[in-house]
Amino acid sequence: MTPAVADIRSICCIGAGYVGGPTMAVIADRCPQLQVTVVDLNAERIAAWNHDDLGRLPVYEPGLDAVVGRARGRNLHFSTAVDDAIAAADMVFLSVNTPTKSRGVGAGQASDLRWIEASARQVAAAASGHTIVVEKSTLPVRTAEAVKAILAAAQGDAGGSKTFSVLSNPEFLAEGTAIADLEAPDRVLIGGEDDQAIEALAAIYGHWVSGERILRTNLWSSELSKLTANAFLAQRISSINSIAALCEATGADVREVARAIGSDSRLGPKFLQAGPGFGGSCFQKDILNLVYLCRHYGLEEVARYWEQVVDLNTWQQQRIARKVVLSLFGTLTGKRLAVLGFAFKADTNDTRESPAIRICRDLLEEGAELAIVDPKVDAGQIAADLGQAPGPLGSTTGLVGVGEGTWAAAASPLEAARGADAVLILTEWQAYRHLDWSALAAVMRRPAWLFDARAVADAAAARAAGLTVWRVGEG
Ligand code: UDX
Ligand code: UDX
Repeated sequence: MTPAVADIRSICCIGAGYVGGPTMAVIADRCPQLQVTVVDLNAERIAAWNHDDLGRLPVYEPGLDAVVGRARGRNLHFSTAVDDAIAAADMVFLSVNTPTKSRGVGAGQASDLRWIEASARQVAAAASGHTIVVEKSTLPVRTAEAVKAILAAAQGDAGGSKTFSVLSNPEFLAEGTAIADLEAPDRVLIGGEDDQAIEALAAIYGHWVSGERILRTNLWSSELSKLTANAFLAQRISSINSIAALCEATGADVREVARAIGSDSRLGPKFLQAGPGFGGSCFQKDILNLVYLCRHYGLEEVARYWEQVVDLNTWQQQRIARKVVLSLFGTLTGKRLAVLGFAFKADTNDTRESPAIRICRDLLEEGAELAIVDPKVDAGQIAADLGQAPGPLGSTTGLVGVGEGTWAAAASPLEAARGADAVLILTEWQAYRHLDWSALAAVMRRPAWLFDARAVADAAAARAAGLTVWRVGEG
């Protein structure tokens, strides 16, 4: 029997990542009567969530420190004792990572579900009584079937002393605005077949989300809605980036075009910012997943339609690197570039699939020296992403790693710009809107360029300081 709504007293979340951590923190904050335990295999990550200094949580999100500060130790706990937390829980969220498979059947497109499967097996073994299992990770459609099959086997082995219901409750939060998105979601989506389980989960959200925003669907619609939402959002970005290229060729300005079309209430103004292409852990992975799914069901034309969204995104990144090379007289050997921003978007320390990775690698391959600065991404992360340790700038020796270029972390935009031939803005950090262009220009080598792939800098000030300015989508 599924517990009645009032019986849910303890919940557990497997996966203390960008999704699991903030989501559980907000649930704990809004539902003080619930005990919420977030578990993870990664002891270092758990230790960071428990760090006394709230400025050193493993995930950077505006407002997260305050939420964790209020709830941690009261009814929010971070732990590595996975089995104990599962055993004590009435409801278990699965929020483990589901990256694209790198080998075997479906490599490069299908999601790697090994961690979901491992978590489901762990829940099957450690649970007691009735447990509602909630899929929080973004998953291919019909994953719930696999989760159910694993849980059903355990149910049979236990002679009915443990029972399970499976729900899908995809997360729509965007990084950088996770807390606001969680506190005031456009909608909460709950998919499932067991009405009592659905209502138990709806009641938790009901503490702060109004009833009409809580949507109930069947399991498969819920799973597919998440993939579809991300595919549509990513498609808008590829669409505007394709038009940005045409604007540059024709003398139009993509921001004027975006404003003009965004004023049509059928289109709306959001997600029309041209840039270096989309990054983040979800968009590419989810579209590739959709493509894989379509092929699996023999829908080749549909698969190719969505695949094009990812292809255009890759092209956009390569196009920007090429633009830099061609502008700097076709060669970057011996030239220094200040790279401003490495995170995949502003207000996050996340670099997964960041456009900066491919663009910087392409520039390194051309022999560039990159001085990279980001307010939230540390040098160790950049080194891991580039597959290359930092090296001394200004030397032609010590050429290591993937390309022939070198890179080093800089402490500030001004330090990065010192001796640089160009500044390249790749993340739309607020601070980059207010750079002092006369100070930057003064320390750069002439002729100096600004390549603004996010169109955030004060282009007039940069031009007044003597820089040649390229902005994405400006003809
Ligand atoms: C992940 C998925 O990438 C995304 O598709 C989904 O929507 C939500 O979960 P995120 O939270 O950003 O997103 O992932 P990540 O930051 O990698 O966190 C996952 C955590 O799960 C990691 O800390 C990892 O150590 C943990 N984990 C993984 C376990 O605790 N147990 C496992 O078996 C596997
Ligand atoms: C996305 C979805 O928005 C969210 O609902 C889902 O749960 C997870 O995936 P996220 O990846 O965190 O969230 O960030 P998002 O704000 O969607 O940005 C994704 C990428 O698109 C970033 O690289 C961003 O810079 C880029 N982007 C976004 C643009 O280039 N232009 C835009 O107009 C909007």
